[in-house]
Amino acid sequence: MEIVIVGAGVIGLATAWRAAAGGAAVTLVDPEPASGASSVAAGMLTPVSELTYGEEPLLRLGLASRDRYGAFVAELEELTGLETGYRTDGIIEVAFDADDLKYLDDLRRFQETLGVPVEALTGRECRRLEPMLAPGVRGGLLAPEDGSIDPRRLAPALLAGGEKLGVRLVRRRAAEIVVERDTAVGVRLDDGTALRADRVLLAAGPWSGDLGGLPPGTVPPVRPVKGQVIRLRTRTPFIGRSTRGMVKGSSVYLVPRLDGEIVVGATQEELGFDTRVTAGGLWELLRDARELLPGVTELEFVEVSAGLRPGSPDNAPVMGPSALPGLVIGTGHFRNGVLLAPISADILSAMLLDAPVPDVAGPSSSPHPPPFNGRALLDAFSPGRFSPEVHS
Ligand code: GLY
Repeated sequence: MEIVIVGAGVIGLATAWRAAAGGAAVTLVDPEPASGASSVAAGMLTPVSELTYGEEPLLRLGLASRDRYGAFVAELEELTGLETGYRTDGIIEVAFDADDLKYLDDLRRFQETLGVPVEALTGRECRRLEPMLAPGVRGGLLAPEDGSIDPRRLAPALLAGGEKLGVRLVRRRAAEIVVERDTAVGVRLDDGTALRADRVLLAAGPWSGDLGGLPPGTVPPVRPVKGQVIRLRTRTPFIGRSTRGMVKGSSVYLVPRLDGEIVVGATQEELGFDTRVTAGGLWELLRDARELLPGVTELEFVEVSAGLRPGSPDNAPVMGPSALPGLVIGTGHFRNGVLLAPISADILSAMLLDAPVPDVAGPSSSPHPPPFNGRALLDAFSPGRFSPEVHS
């Protein structure tokens, strides 16, 4: 089986690695692999604390992916000898004022109705866990099973892991999908070279719809959603786990790494393909971070960056065969690309290889009964859900 994957962000990279492990000859096409959102993302693995009302299928997918992370990382690190910065120390989510606490209380009740393990904390309990929190922090939640990973280590490790299994990387832009007899049979690069394939995976984030040769409507609209992120460094202990806060209704998070880096994120801006870092975006992040953790102003400044999350019309991933035979779509992972990399790679590689798709709603280490069977869960993410005829 010859597979061409367009896009070497975490989803394309992870799928290339798994498809190669499944016996496929894989070619990855990307002028700048492991860049874009994959190099900006903070890497929170937080299906519980990122839970949004009305997104229960996404929660289930996120939990299934988080449950896979330990084995996924262990296999990758053993294969490549590279560290990924994987941490499983939970995430604390704290409230700045009474309204923020009300929001977190409502969220916890919603999380509890879904059977997700989460602990309510008083302000004092929050500070016992994270002593640098401001004295005024009202209370919070602990999601003990959430964690984080360093995407700037994960993506190169995935690339190295794929290359060890024979994945070929082509550092060029894919210009168009080659279609013959109404079937995708490869891609044409920007230098005119054609790469033939039995299957093509389109995993180009918000650029997924830009390729030539795609029949209209093949790829659901995926929009770029900008996120600005600040990287700081500490030489003394600052926070022990990922810390998210609600500050007067807006959300900020800080993700610590074992090497002292602290990633502060992230804005969420609908501005098209704009990756400028703005004074206002940075000010909002630092303002809210300082309300929660006043000592943040003492940390060393390292870097600012902005990336583009791929957001589908319902903000859920778009994964599955498209209406064009031979073309599989894997995009739209929005705020969850890093979290969803292991499960997406398993799903997409199985689809590409015509292998049985894993039961993504199957047994989990968490004590929550899966309310969806695997098929229903996959349907919630299929590209066809945006086609009127599917719903009529
Ligand atoms: N998952 C965090 C973000 O997208 O900002």
